[in-house]
Order: sequence, then structure tokens, then C-alpha cells
Amino acid sequence: MDLFSSIDTEPARQRMDELCKELDRLNYEYYMNDRSLVSDEEFDGMMRELQELERQYPELANPLSPTKRVGGEVNKSFRQVEHRFPMLSLGNTYSIEEIEEFEARTRKLLDGVPFSYTCELKYDGVAIGLTYRHGRLVQAVTRGNGRVGDDITTNAKTIPTIPLQLRGEYPDDFEARGEVVYPFESFKTMNAQREAEGDEPFANPRNAASGSLKLQDSAECAKRKLLFCMYFMMAPDGVPLPDTHFGRLDYARQMGFKVQPYIQECKDIDEIKEFIDTWDQGRWELPFGIDGIVIKVNQTALWDRLGLTAKSPRWAIAYKFKAERVSTPLESISYQVGRTGVITPVANLQPVWLGGTTVRRATLVNADFIEKMGICKGDHLLIEKGGEIIPKVVGVDMDKRQAGAMPVQYITRCPECGAALVREEGEAGHYCPNSDGCHPQIIGRLEHFVSRKAMGIDTLGPERLELLYSAGLVRNVADLYDLKREQLIGLGSDATIQDKGADNLLAAIEASKEVPFERVLFALGIRYVGEVGAKKLARYFGNMDALMAATEEELAGVEDVGEVTAKAVCQWFADAEHRTVVERLRTAGLKMSGEWKMESQKLAGMTLVVSGTFEHFSREEIKADIENHGGKVSGSISGKTTYLVAGEKMGPEKQKKAEKLGVKIITEAEYMDMTR
Ligand code: IVH
Repeated sequence: MDLFSSIDTEPARQRMDELCKELDRLNYEYYMNDRSLVSDEEFDGMMRELQELERQYPELANPLSPTKRVGGEVNKSFRQVEHRFPMLSLGNTYSIEEIEEFEARTRKLLDGVPFSYTCELKYDGVAIGLTYRHGRLVQAVTRGNGRVGDDITTNAKTIPTIPLQLRGEYPDDFEARGEVVYPFESFKTMNAQREAEGDEPFANPRNAASGSLKLQDSAECAKRKLLFCMYFMMAPDGVPLPDTHFGRLDYARQMGFKVQPYIQECKDIDEIKEFIDTWDQGRWELPFGIDGIVIKVNQTALWDRLGLTAKSPRWAIAYKFKAERVSTPLESISYQVGRTGVITPVANLQPVWLGGTTVRRATLVNADFIEKMGICKGDHLLIEKGGEIIPKVVGVDMDKRQAGAMPVQYITRCPECGAALVREEGEAGHYCPNSDGCHPQIIGRLEHFVSRKAMGIDTLGPERLELLYSAGLVRNVADLYDLKREQLIGLGSDATIQDKGADNLLAAIEASKEVPFERVLFALGIRYVGEVGAKKLARYFGNMDALMAATEEELAGVEDVGEVTAKAVCQWFADAEHRTVVERLRTAGLKMSGEWKMESQKLAGMTLVVSGTFEHFSREEIKADIENHGGKVSGSISGKTTYLVAGEKMGPEKQKKAEKLGVKIITEAEYMDMTR
């Protein structure tokens, strides 16, 4: 029988091997040499065939199969691992004089020995180290604090420019280091998509790269189109490597790493300065972000001789580009009204070229910001763009200030509805209190209500909402549930909504009645109650009535809900019109209480506070675990707290307070006993 089964699987094994090799080769040509050797369909076909075979014969699957590139494995939590070689950082400077000093000092220390420098790009991303044994990728770890980092191997495998199996010759055991960057084009596309789906966009490609490496779902990471730029190689004693940095990068390229070609050997300070200049000008032509230039002594035998300072090597230095800054006239200020009535002033600028794009507008944040910056009419503003994609106003160009310039007069009335603006004690900005009569607030609330993360009525875009509003059919969110088919048909300037459109719309509205309570709560658009806050509140109180009856104090005790939010929630429910809307939504059949599938009810009726770090859980995990056993999690200890679960390094404040209030402190082991 055994004999037969091994004979049976042989053709499959051969085919899998063949597919792995071919897909690896095609990937390599595509990502390293920009060459497509087959059509997308053909490639996908082979990938699917391999996936299917791996599903049928999991015991034959190669752990480094190209199917790993597609992701699919889920990262539970990212294990912390110690770096075999600490990940040092470099001394860095914004000043050319300090680069001159570095060069002179190095030359002096090397005392006549012939040597050269390499200049290369300083990639603006996330540093990671990749361990290879016998040519195979075995581990990928983020820099972390330089000594320990997070194991992100599963996600790293999805990055096409990280070789899983090396080619040609390679050292048996070594670590490749480099930076994971998010190329501008894919960053833009991804952020646009996030915004369309109601997710917070990333501030810059670096944050996006870092967030992507920490994604739980590696299939999601695979979609992110990250790029790995290799810049360093190290091996344990006794494993030979080429004796120049330049040679090592060349060697790495032959093994299959993507090493950017923008590296140059320089013999003196003039050549170094020229390289810096070239890239300071040319950096925005690159498809990814760089924030400076790294200069290294090329001859690796000299590295030991130069040694290390407390935290960085003496044989290298980073020159950082200054954030690009321009001065441009402020033409006017527009005031935008958000769905909660918050006013955001926006500077309309004379268009100016900055960091690869034309800047026309920049936020002025709020009245406080304008006052602090002392912005006057007719001023020229200083605009900066560092690693950020979004330009920032960093000051007033005082050289261009005109004599007798008058400070900007902030508006006192809403630009949309004319209501007198309100600025509450201690608040940095103004808001329009006319929430029921101010057009952008009404439409904004409706837009928020139907958005994907709220009620998910995605057939209702902004134009449709406008249409329903101007036809007098929808004034508030509850009106959506009273819409009738005959009211909808024929709506629009050229009767855009017809039978099918009306049916789809009503079906989507009907389907939204299945949306869970926590999302209904988020959809209401209460100020400061975001997705996470809504979830916490929903789980804590369980239903709308309990939430509506809660006091400010009780609300503020809920994990992740602060005093400001608590106050906003109370105020919102204190408004009779809001309560009417909630009642109408209830009558329409929306979910007003949660049903959570729980592991047990062992902690029912108890409120737990957690503190410190745990062996079996991350902090988020233990909180979820408590809720899964029917308990409530609170952020602060009070008379209502049942237990304080103490982990390692518990805060002394929490301990004191628990002791004072007589709250029982239990260990992680005791918690496990109680729940398992
Ligand atoms: S060399 C021991 N080269 O910049 C020297 N670093 O403080 C190891 N970086 O966190 C670093 N581009 O992640 C080197 N071409 C490059 C680099 C680079 C970016 C990052 C690196 C490190 C920081 C330097």
C-alpha cells in the first residue's frame, strides 16, 4: 500500500517542483528585470495549478513555494525575536559641514591607507533583517529597538523582491538587511481606495509600509505592492564575504536581491558632495521615497579599524535632506463645514511646485492655529513637505510681510447656513450649532450613515443623497427607512432612477437592517465615537437602552472611551430629536442590541481591569478574551471593578488604587483557571 501511494504521488511531486521553478523564474524576470515572459492568464493558471496540487498534497508542498507570495497565512501575533547581530543605526546630520568633518576624520584615522567611499540612497521605509540558511529565507525581523524586533516572516514572503530561494552561489549562513518601502504610485492607489472605503488614509509611504508589515492577514500584505531595497549584508565569523561594500551588493544582486543601481564609489569629498547634490535635486524622480544619502567606507576590512561609537559605526554616516520648503502667497481662506459642524479653515495658495506635486491648498487646522501662526491678510506662507505627502503650513514668511498687514479675521458665521458659530471654552476650533438646518452637516451625516463601515448602503452615493434631500424625501437618517418605491422612480434631473435602480436601493436599505448594533451606533455619527469606540460601548452596554441610560461617569469608565467622548455621548442622547431618530430606527427594525457569540458566561456580570504584560496574551487579546467569557473590560479601577488582572510590570498606580478600594488582584494563571 505504501509502495503504491508513493508511486502515485511521484508525478504530482515532479509537477509541483516544475511549477515552483518556473513560477520562481517568471517572478524573478518580472520583478528584477522588468520582463514579462508569459501572459497574466498563463501565469495565474500555473499559480492556480500549483495551489491546487499543494491543497491535495500538503505533505509535498515546498515551504518556500511561490504560492506563499500570495499570502493567506494569518499572523496571530508577531513574536519578538532577538537579532543575532544588533541592528545599529547611523549617525546622521543635515549639515554638509558635518559630512566634511566625517570625511576628514575618517581620512585621518586611516592614516594613509588607500580607501574609497560608497554613496547610496537612504531609503525612507522600514528596516528589516532577513536570515538565509543554505540559500533559503528562514526568518524576517523588523529593526524594533535594534536588539529585538518582530518576526514578520509570513508577510515578508509576500514581497516579490525578497528572494525565498537564492540563486547561483551564496554564503551558507548570513543576514541581508534593507528597507521595505512603499512606492509612490501604489501608495497613492492604495490610499485612494482606503478613502473610498471610509478608512483613514496613511500619512506617508513610510507609515503605510510599516502598517503593511504588521498586517494580520498576509494575503492583504501581498496586495500592498511593497518593495525591498537591499543595502547591507553580514555573516558570522568564518563565513567569507567580498571585501568591499560595493562588491557585497553586487554579490547580493547575483543571488537575486533587488539592489538599486543608484550607488557610486567616491574617492573624495567633492565626489560625495556631487552625489548628494544630484539626489537632493533628483529625489522626486524616483518611484519611491528617500530621505537622504548614506556614505560608507567601501573597504570592509577597515570597518573594524574604525570601530563603533556608543550606538553607531564610525565608518558610515547618513546625510539627511532638509524637508523641502517653499514660500507662496495666501490668496484666500475657505471654511469647510464637517458633518459634526466642525469648521476647518483651508488656505488657498498661489499654486507652487513642491516635492513632486503642485500644491494649491493646505489646511489651517482651526482658529487657534491661525492665531498662533499670526497669519495676516496678504501674507506669504511657508509650506513644507518632508516625508509627508500632505503639505503643511509651517509658518509665515516674515521677509515678505507687508507693512500694516492686518491679522486674518476669523469668520463668526457659518459660511453655509449663516448661523452664529460657537467656540466652547477650552476648544481650539469653532463649530456650527445649526445641525438640522446646515446643508453640509445634513448631507455629511447621511453620507456617514450609509458608508461602508457604518450601515453599508453602498448604492447611495453623495449625488443620490443630494437628490433625495432636494426632493424633500430625506432630511435625517430615519427618513431613509420610510422611502417608497413610487417616490423614487423618476427621480433625478433626467429621471436617473428607474425601476431597477429603485428596487436595488430599497433592497440595500432593507439589508442594512441586519447590520450589527455596534455599527448602528457608529453610524449615528456621535462626535468622537469612532469605529473602535462604538464597538467598546456596544459590547459594554449590550443594548441601546442601557447606553442611553448611562451616566457620564459610567461612560468614561469604559475601556478606550475618555471623558470628552463620554460627554459627547451624553449630550447627543440628551437631544430630544436625536432620541426620536433612534426610536424611529428601532421601529424600522434596526438592531438595537448585540448578540455576541461567546465562549462562556463565566465572567458574566463582572468588570475586569487589566494591567501589565501577559504570557499568553497581548493586551488586546486578553481584553477580547474577557469579553468572550461574558465579562466587561474597564480602563480604570473603581468600586465596580470585580478583579484587577495583574501581568508583569503592572503599573504601581493601579496596584495602589486596587488595594485602596479593596479590589481583588488576580494573576494571569488565576485568570486562566477561572475561565478555562
Ligand atoms: S546602512 C550599520 N544603508 O537608515 C549600517 N542604512 O540609521 C547599517 N537606511 O535604520 C545601515 N537606507 O534602516 C544603510 N542605504 C542604506 C540605508 C539605510 C536607509 C536606514 C537604516 C537605518 C537608518 C540609518
